[in-house]
Amino acid sequence: MTDPALDPETLRGRAFAALTTARERTALLTSVEDPELTAQHSPLMSPLVWDLAHIGNQEEMWLLRAVAGREAMRPEIDGLYDAFEHSRAERPSLPLLPPAEARKYAAEVRGRVVDVLENASFEGTGARLTQAGFAFGMIAQHEQQHDETMLITHQLRRGPAVLHAPDPEPTPPFTGPAEVLVPGGPFTMGTSTEPWSLDNERPAHRREVAPFFIDTTPVTNAAYQAFIADGGYDDPRWWTPDGWAHVRGHSLYAPLFWFRDGGQWLRRRFGVTEVVPPDEPVVHVCWYEADAYARWAGRRLPTEAEWEKAARHDPATDRSTRYPWGDADPAPEHANLGQRHLRPAPAGSYPAGESPLGVRQLIGDVWEWTASDFLPYPGFSMFPYKEYSEVFFGPEHKVLRGGSFAVDAVACRGTFRNWDYPIRRQIFSGFRTARTPEAV
Ligand code: AVJ
Ligand code: FE
Repeated sequence: MTDPALDPETLRGRAFAALTTARERTALLTSVEDPELTAQHSPLMSPLVWDLAHIGNQEEMWLLRAVAGREAMRPEIDGLYDAFEHSRAERPSLPLLPPAEARKYAAEVRGRVVDVLENASFEGTGARLTQAGFAFGMIAQHEQQHDETMLITHQLRRGPAVLHAPDPEPTPPFTGPAEVLVPGGPFTMGTSTEPWSLDNERPAHRREVAPFFIDTTPVTNAAYQAFIADGGYDDPRWWTPDGWAHVRGHSLYAPLFWFRDGGQWLRRRFGVTEVVPPDEPVVHVCWYEADAYARWAGRRLPTEAEWEKAARHDPATDRSTRYPWGDADPAPEHANLGQRHLRPAPAGSYPAGESPLGVRQLIGDVWEWTASDFLPYPGFSMFPYKEYSEVFFGPEHKVLRGGSFAVDAVACRGTFRNWDYPIRRQIFSGFRTARTPEAV
C-alpha cells in the first residue's frame, strides 16, 4: 500500500477518532433530564432516547454483526429501532429502552466495537465493507447524522436553553462581488476514490455544465426580509403551483421560528429569543420558499451539478477537489461545522474556505437547497444497504448540499448529498441563488 492515508494504523486511528468524536457529541445532546429524552418535542422528530438506541443498534448491526460476525445482542429490540417499521410520530408509544438502558446498550456496543477495530484488517478480497475502514466511517457518519437530527429536536423543543456554544468569531465584512461567473464546460462530479463516501456520491463521472452565475455567499436574513416586506408570501407570481398551495394552506409568512414584534423580526433559537441578525445566512426555509425568493430576485436555484462545479472544480487544473479550498480536511478556519457554534456565521465569513473563483461558505453554515431532484448518478450501485439512498431516489425529494453548522466534518464533503421533502424547514436549510447569463 503506497498511499500513507490508507496505512492500517492511520485508518484505525481515524476510525477511532471519528467514532469517539461522534459519541462525545451524542453524550452532550442527550445529557438532559429523562423526561426530556422520552418526550416527543415535535411530531416531526423521534424522542431523543430513540435516536440514542438507534445509533447503538445500527452500530451493532454493521460493526458487530456484519463486520465481526457476532450474534445479535438483543434481537427483540431490532424492530423498535428500524426506521422503516415505525414512523417518527408513533415512536414515543413504542416500548423503547428507557434512558439508562439505552445509554448502557449503546456503551456496550461501543466497547465491543473498539475491540473489533483494534483487530480489524482493512483489506482483503470480499471485505469491501471494511476496505479503507469504510464500515467504521459509515457508522461514525450515521451517528453524526443523528446528532444533527437531535440538534433539530433541541431547536424544536419548547422551554429554556439547555445547549450553549460560543458565537462565531467576528470577521471583517465581505467586500467581494455578489456573484461570480462559472465558465461552461465539463467537470468531474461525484467520487470514486473518497474512501468513506456513501453510495449516492458514487461513481465519479463527467458532467457538462453551461456557464452560470452563482452567489458568492448564501442569501442573508436581510435579503430574505426584503422579499417578505415586498409581499413575497402574498404574490402567487413567485411560487410554483405546489409551493403556492403549500404556503397558503399552511399560512406561512416567514422562515420557521420567526415572529414579528412591533417593527422587527425576532426568532427563537435553542430556547433564546433574539432579533434576527441581518447579515447571517437565512435558515429554516423550505425548498418552496427558497425557490420563490429566487424567482422574486430575478434568479433561480442552482442545479446540483452547478453547485458541485462551483464547489469543487479548479479551473487552473481541471480537477475536482474534495472541498472548495482544496483537498485538505476541514479545519476551523475553513468552515463552520461540527456544532462548534449553534448558528451560521455572517455571510462572507471564512475567506480561507473560499473556492478558486471566490465563492464562500459552500461548506458549513447552512444546507443549501438546489433545484434538483434526488436521483442516482449514472453507474450508481447500492452499497451496503438500499435503505440509505436507493429507496429515496425520485422527484419527491430535493437535494441539499454543503452541510450546516450542525454537521460534523466526517459527514460533509464537496460530494456529499443530502435530501428532503420540499416542504421541510425544521432542518438547518438555507440557499444561494444562480442565474443563466443572457445570450449576447
Ligand atoms: C441523509 C440525512 C436524509 O436522517 O434521514 C440516518 C441520514 N439515514 N439514518 C436521514 C440517515 C439513516 C438521512 N439523511
Ligand atoms: Fe439512522
